[in-house]
Amino acid sequence: MAFALTPDREKQVDEILTRYPERRAALLPMLWLCQRQHGWISPEVIEYVAERLGLSTAAVKGVVTFYTMFFDEPVGENIIWVCRTLSCDLRGGKVIQEHLEQKLGCSAGQTSSDGKFTLLKAECLAACGQAPMVQINDRYYENLDVELLDRIIEAHLTKGAEAAAEEFATHATFRGPRKGASSAPPPPSKEAVRVASQPPPSARSSKGDES
Ligand code: FES
Repeated sequence: MAFALTPDREKQVDEILTRYPERRAALLPMLWLCQRQHGWISPEVIEYVAERLGLSTAAVKGVVTFYTMFFDEPVGENIIWVCRTLSCDLRGGKVIQEHLEQKLGCSAGQTSSDGKFTLLKAECLAACGQAPMVQINDRYYENLDVELLDRIIEAHLTKGAEAAAEEFATHATFRGPRKGASSAPPPPSKEAVRVASQPPPSARSSKGDES
């Protein structure tokens, strides 16, 4: 079935188009609008966007498949991005991922059988000081442990994403700590202590000396 944006979103596209000298420059914000409405960028969405901006479907598809934040297949109601880069990993990112996999009954890259959550791994989401963290939809949840994570997931299931975000989400730079959170940083994980207590690698083992 052919895709079309709602009249309200069409008006937003009209406004977005006024910002750029060329229509093609509106491709990213227009894809965003479409994904917010449709949940993912289906072939019908690609055709719609290509026609609206005067581009080939191949050009639109190339952009969709380049950016990990655009989904080219159906996803769950909520998207959980688990940060697995160094700071989060040292403070339990792997435990967070494994706990989510067990709780949701799906591996990273998959969607839970009830369609409520898609679980994805992410590279550093720039909230390293609040590690470990996940992004759910477009909100950050930081300084996590599995108990807090369970409460966050439960809130999404019982109250919805907006209410869950209102209760638990943090934004590293402009929302401050979650309600009731202590301002003291959580203690380091055992893994962080283990890594920090190891002696630095010797000069001989560095890459430059291997030859
Ligand atoms: S390493 Fe996780 S936010 Fe930077």
